Amino acid sequence: MATAELAGKHLVLGMTGGIACYKIAELTRLLTKAGATVQVVMTEAATQFITPVTMQALSGRPVYTSQWDGRVPNNMAHIDLSREADAIVIAPASTDFLAKLAHGMADDLLSTLCVARDCPLLVVPAMNRQMWQNPATQRNVTQLRADGLQVLGPDSGPQACGEVGDGRMLEAAATYEAIASFFSPKILAGRRVLLTAGPTFEPLDPVRGITNRSSGKMGFALARAAQQAGAEVHLVAGPVALETPWGVFREDVQTAQQMHDAVMRSVADADIFIGVAAVADWRADHASEHKIKKTAERTLPTFTFVENPDILATVAKLPHPPFAVGFAAESGDLEVHGEEKRARKNVPLLIGNLGPLTFGLDDNEVILFEASGATKLPRADKQTLARTLIAEIAKRLPEPSPIR
Ligand code: C5P
Repeated sequence: MATAELAGKHLVLGMTGGIACYKIAELTRLLTKAGATVQVVMTEAATQFITPVTMQALSGRPVYTSQWDGRVPNNMAHIDLSREADAIVIAPASTDFLAKLAHGMADDLLSTLCVARDCPLLVVPAMNRQMWQNPATQRNVTQLRADGLQVLGPDSGPQACGEVGDGRMLEAAATYEAIASFFSPKILAGRRVLLTAGPTFEPLDPVRGITNRSSGKMGFALARAAQQAGAEVHLVAGPVALETPWGVFREDVQTAQQMHDAVMRSVADADIFIGVAAVADWRADHASEHKIKKTAERTLPTFTFVENPDILATVAKLPHPPFAVGFAAESGDLEVHGEEKRARKNVPLLIGNLGPLTFGLDDNEVILFEASGATKLPRADKQTLARTLIAEIAKRLPEPSPIR
């Protein structure tokens, strides 16, 4: 979990009545762990779902529920509590509270705080699907967006009422990501980023195949960092066991050929292409249609292999290529092979993993190879490194061209 975006931020976390209140316990923990201070304010209804004691213990600060709270010396809790806030986050935001916000109502502490604020307001709706789809709710949400509020979610899926549909609150981790994203500098605003990540899987028969040890962590971390930097992100992922970063469009593929085809379908729209995937260099010429059985004579199967397309090199050869970035994982002599590989693939920037292969690990140390020379970056966890790499890529981008 990344911390840099939220360290030192002061958030007012406003809770309204809804079963999703249970998610806010975890959200508070994630926010405080990331170095944010969290001032919880609850409506009367929220206290029916989770106690202020729980929220006080998790946030480490007294919880406010009433406008008439005698603990605020000047009796102006509605002004005081949000004065130092970097943002107010309403989670869960009930149907009723969205309606109140849309109409500027101020009849309890939390709604008054929102009207009296001079900081950004983020709302995380949570409700039954019919309440969410109700035209009045949709009107209110449209109004809130027009008023400049950030509406995070909602999610879709099974609901506490037993129904399935839109309206459930984002999970705590996704809400955290969305808040972190809000605070990240938008150095890639308006840019479209296409990435590949993970391994590919090349079948030999319906149950067996060739793959590699890429976990996809670095590619997913870069997708997340690019999204947080304001880019529209399309992630083409091989078979990995990772959650899609919040706000990222993900397309799953298995083979190198499928990855190539997915990239070629979308690359014309991309300003940046980052090939992080560990693409298999070869595939079986003819994968068996049926599972290959052991024979009584124990004859071993033989395969002939054909080369897979080089996705990165193909992208770099396009007449109007996006800013193309490659990755290189070598088991030795990176300094020698890195620049050679960059020049061969004809990309402006190639990122080489330094030291032993780091598949699956959380830390990484890299060298940037470009025509002007090589630059080593300090060892860091993959998420921190991803943010640094996105900043390095952003610095090197040409101005957007009017023909693209
Ligand atoms: O040649 P090598 O596999 O070491 O190059 C690594 C870089 O090339 C990575 O950016 C990888 O995503 C990309 N690549 C590719 N298609 C291939 C092989 C590698 O896009 N078939």
